[in-house]
Amino acid sequence: MQINHIAFVMDGNGRWASQRGKSRKYGHKKGVEALKKVLQSLKFYNISMASFYAFSTENWKRPKEEIDALFSMMKQYLKNTETELLNNDIKLNVLGRREGLPLDLIESIKKAEELTKSCKSHTVNLMINYGSRAEICDAFNKAIKEGETFIDEKKLSDYLYTAYMPDPDIIVRTGGDMRLSNFMLYQGAYSELIFTNYYWPEINKMRIKEILDEFSKRKRRFGALDNK
Ligand code: IPE
Ligand code: IPE
Ligand code: MG
Repeated sequence: MQINHIAFVMDGNGRWASQRGKSRKYGHKKGVEALKKVLQSLKFYNISMASFYAFSTENWKRPKEEIDALFSMMKQYLKNTETELLNNDIKLNVLGRREGLPLDLIESIKKAEELTKSCKSHTVNLMINYGSRAEICDAFNKAIKEGETFIDEKKLSDYLYTAYMPDPDIIVRTGGDMRLSNFMLYQGAYSELIFTNYYWPEINKMRIKEILDEFSKRKRRFGALDNK
């Protein structure tokens, strides 16, 4: 089975850590390690594209200390992962609003994107300062700026940050909450939703298999009748 696009709402780092008497920051550190494990599974499971929700436009409501720690880990992660991305022929995109992000993080983002821009085997989208509503507003504003006077579904889709990417086949949210929290509201119109009770740091190769098995059992109809 080939998966065109799987997307993850990486939730539960904080709760995972507090269950173990550790800090939220420690939970995020383990969250980054989990992300690495998932990236290592892309080839094995024949996944062309994976998106990861790392920081939402609403996450600015958190304490500055936690936000700073998250951005610093992201910067470190981008730096440390460049070689691995290149070795595995993975193209990295960071999607979301750049405004408000620390300059050194923006630099690392640009560098990683530039370095991996010709990679073709897989694409990984890291969503940082991403909100689906902001994305849709940004799309319309870009269209207006470019002189568009009429927008259809295809055109709007090509103005989103995910322009020319396939819609996610699967959206997974770890951590037990069953909501999208402003993630891929447009692109996810027909995505198969999978919610897990385990927290993000607990995801691993076996659990990716469970997710793919669950997906393979789903009947996608896209509004049509079931042709047996
Ligand atoms: C990680 O999980 C996702 C981010 C927003 C960085 P959380 O930090 O939301 O962890 P919980 O949900 O509080 O457990
Ligand atoms: C969703 O998690 C956002 C990310 C995973 C980046 P949150 O923890 O921010 O979502 P809510 O607040 O529980 O809806
Ligand atoms: Mg959360």
